[in-house]
Amino acid sequence: MESAEIRRRFLAYFERNGHTVVPSASLLLDDPTLLFVDAGMVPFKPYFLGEAVPPYPRATSVQKCVRTLDIDEVGKTTRHASFFQMCGNFSFGDYFKSGAIPFAWELLTGSQADGGFGFDPSRLWVTVYEKDDEAADLWHRVVGLPQERIQRRGLADNYWSMGVPGPGGPCSEIYFDRGSEYGRDGGPEADEDRYLEVWNLVFMQDELSVVRSKEDFDIAGSLPKKNIDTGMGLERMAALLQGVDNIYEIDTTRIILDRASALTGVRYGADERSDVRLRVIADHARTCAFLIADGVLPSNEGRGYVLRRIMRRVVRNMRILGCMDPSMGELIDASIDSMSPQYPELRDAHTRVRSVSEAEEAAFTATLRQGTQIFDLAVADAKAATAGTPTLSGASTFQLHDTYGFPFDLTLEMAAEHGVHVDEEGFRRLMKEQRDRAKADAKARKAGLTSPTVYRDVMERIGTTVFTGYDEVVTESSIGGIVIDGTAVRSATVGDTVEIIMARTPFYAESGGQLGDHGFIDVAGGARIDVFDVQSPVPGMFVHRATVVDGEVVVGESAIGRVDLERRNAISRAHTATHMIHKAFREILGETATQMGSENSPGRLRFDFPSPNAVPDSVMRDVEDRVNTLLLDNLPVTAEYMSQEAARKLGAMALFGEKYGDTVRVVSVGDWTRELCGGTHTRNSGNLGVVKFLSEGSIGAGVRRVEALVGSDAYRFLAREHLLVHQLADMVKVRPDELPERIDAMLARMRDVERELERVRAAALRAQLAELVRTDDVDGVVVKRVILPEGTPAQDLRGIVLDLRGQIPEAHAGVVIGFTTDADKVSVIVASNAAAIAAGHAAGALLQGIAPVIGGKGGGKPDMAQGGGTDATAIPAAMLELDRAISR
Ligand code: SER
Repeated sequence: MESAEIRRRFLAYFERNGHTVVPSASLLLDDPTLLFVDAGMVPFKPYFLGEAVPPYPRATSVQKCVRTLDIDEVGKTTRHASFFQMCGNFSFGDYFKSGAIPFAWELLTGSQADGGFGFDPSRLWVTVYEKDDEAADLWHRVVGLPQERIQRRGLADNYWSMGVPGPGGPCSEIYFDRGSEYGRDGGPEADEDRYLEVWNLVFMQDELSVVRSKEDFDIAGSLPKKNIDTGMGLERMAALLQGVDNIYEIDTTRIILDRASALTGVRYGADERSDVRLRVIADHARTCAFLIADGVLPSNEGRGYVLRRIMRRVVRNMRILGCMDPSMGELIDASIDSMSPQYPELRDAHTRVRSVSEAEEAAFTATLRQGTQIFDLAVADAKAATAGTPTLSGASTFQLHDTYGFPFDLTLEMAAEHGVHVDEEGFRRLMKEQRDRAKADAKARKAGLTSPTVYRDVMERIGTTVFTGYDEVVTESSIGGIVIDGTAVRSATVGDTVEIIMARTPFYAESGGQLGDHGFIDVAGGARIDVFDVQSPVPGMFVHRATVVDGEVVVGESAIGRVDLERRNAISRAHTATHMIHKAFREILGETATQMGSENSPGRLRFDFPSPNAVPDSVMRDVEDRVNTLLLDNLPVTAEYMSQEAARKLGAMALFGEKYGDTVRVVSVGDWTRELCGGTHTRNSGNLGVVKFLSEGSIGAGVRRVEALVGSDAYRFLAREHLLVHQLADMVKVRPDELPERIDAMLARMRDVERELERVRAAALRAQLAELVRTDDVDGVVVKRVILPEGTPAQDLRGIVLDLRGQIPEAHAGVVIGFTTDADKVSVIVASNAAAIAAGHAAGALLQGIAPVIGGKGGGKPDMAQGGGTDATAIPAAMLELDRAISR
């Protein structure tokens, strides 16, 4: 049975049974506890916790998931993947155990002709949480499963949570017995390879406040309702129903694997080591496609780092398998061919995904090249250091890996080719130290979060926040809650840094790239609160971060929120400008110039979009020109609410990675551009005044960032530049438009003058030299001494000393000593001719005695030695030391 059919049957079965089919959410949801969506239930988490009201009592979905914790296991086992799809059915306070268990059983064992998966019931086993008699009883009594195939297990195996504070509950897992050739008898308890877990039914009933491990967590209380969350791995199911041994060989993954095999010329199935590499490539390439499509870009932290790591693993494995040419593009094509029938967003993002992947591959190839040079140097050092087997130290291997991104496998492989041993243990120790540091960091970060429970308690009392700020900037409300340092309090006083929650607010909470509002909250009792940031840490709730600047504020008091209007207007202008710039780039560069990120702050904006190369100046000028021309048309900027469907029909742009409900808000600038957007905007494009680009640059492989000023900020910038140009023109006495030519000419003249100056200086020095040089005889050795004027470069000194040595007849032993000073620094050079060296007066040895006299050190070869010191007053003493050394 094809994967697409398994998916279809799953959704159809639950739809028949009263579930609403919900499309897969983006892999990126703004949940601070998660890097990526890694389970089917994640998008529904607010419903389980009671933070939002579910629009349906029952739902079913096939959710795309990314899990990167076990990344090193991918390809080696039969069932680990960084990308997978989870089929699930969910009940939000509707049915519970007695509904979920028969549903799963009926779908699994129902005949294929009737829309089921047709499993032989005698090969299915289940586990339940050891204290869950109710579930065990349902399996036995209602389903008819014999007691001996119902196993009871502890918290570690049969209690599910997200691993962080949130919902959780006991679970019951269904296993398929693959047969005695796969392992021992005795059910899942004995062997989880033979008995393959296919479905997990979670009886979501608890709210966890602290999670220390799978078995060690604190339950804060019961969830508002009893819920169901189930997860059936689509890939595992496909492996069983397609009769293949592992999830990499199922229909969808196999397409990518075969492409990798064709590109490398390595046949799958010929050798286990190569097979593992092909599986890693297939799995990872697909994960890259999905992550980039959902808006992740390669970078050195967070989500971007995960993407970068897996993409590099693809490139490296391709290389090890012998494919030296760029191949990311082809692997992305294969992944999108294979997956886009189920995930049309991949097709829409195809060009962008390809260009980001190709740029990252090119950058990594350069890293590999640079790493190879560093590697060669390290190997040369290692060889020079020992006569025995050279060893590459743990430190240099780690540095290669950490600083240059050079993969350890490759180091090992190349070291073997060079006959060099690698200190693996040292390398692993350093890696572990780094990992421990990272873990400690992550832990510290999670601990810093205020528990959502605190906000939810407030929300229970006052409901979700009503945002009035689209229409007004002053709103009457009351103080619904005060939080200080993560704890809800009754009151706060002057000087306190607080989080204030109100039932209604005109303050915009940061989202969609638009910064939160600033302003004041005036409280009836006389207190004044200065708002410096607004965030929405749980859906539907706005939290004002603020300082109490006057009086005392108590929960329940009525209050008036006043937004800083000037700042808000400047932000709104920036936001409207962002929409216009976005549209103009798309008009000129095409569909690929789709926004990947933005920031709208007062009078200023940042806009990121994919482009493999720098945007030419001419395009920047055209975009700027197009936007500014449209400002003159004074297009009306309007916002309307409509269904997703209607918005699509109107051609409104939706940005990936954003969450949109059934009803969306569409912001239009005239008929020219329409975008789904929750932000605030100006009323007419004319209000923007002027839009001026400041810069264009790269912020990572394949992504460009432009920055622009809007309104009076743009005007002031232009005025300043204008003034500057006039000042410059005045200074050089030309008209502004003649400046480039004039400055060019001035620079050319300056270069000529510098050259001339250098020539004059050198000539003067030569003319003066006769007076500066003293020649005498020390014990039969001709000694020439010279002290050059302060500031003469040491480089000149060297030339002069060598010239002087050349003046001494070869037959005579001759030594030259020269000094030059620059502030406190003294440079000294000693040169000896062949006869002097033969007579035992080598320059290097002489200088070793002299340098300490001027407070420094020096040394060199027998014919020439160079040094420096810090005591110019000791130059005469140094000269005497030379005489003494020669006479000895
Ligand atoms: N949340 C559970 C899991 O991920 C069931 O969907 O296994």
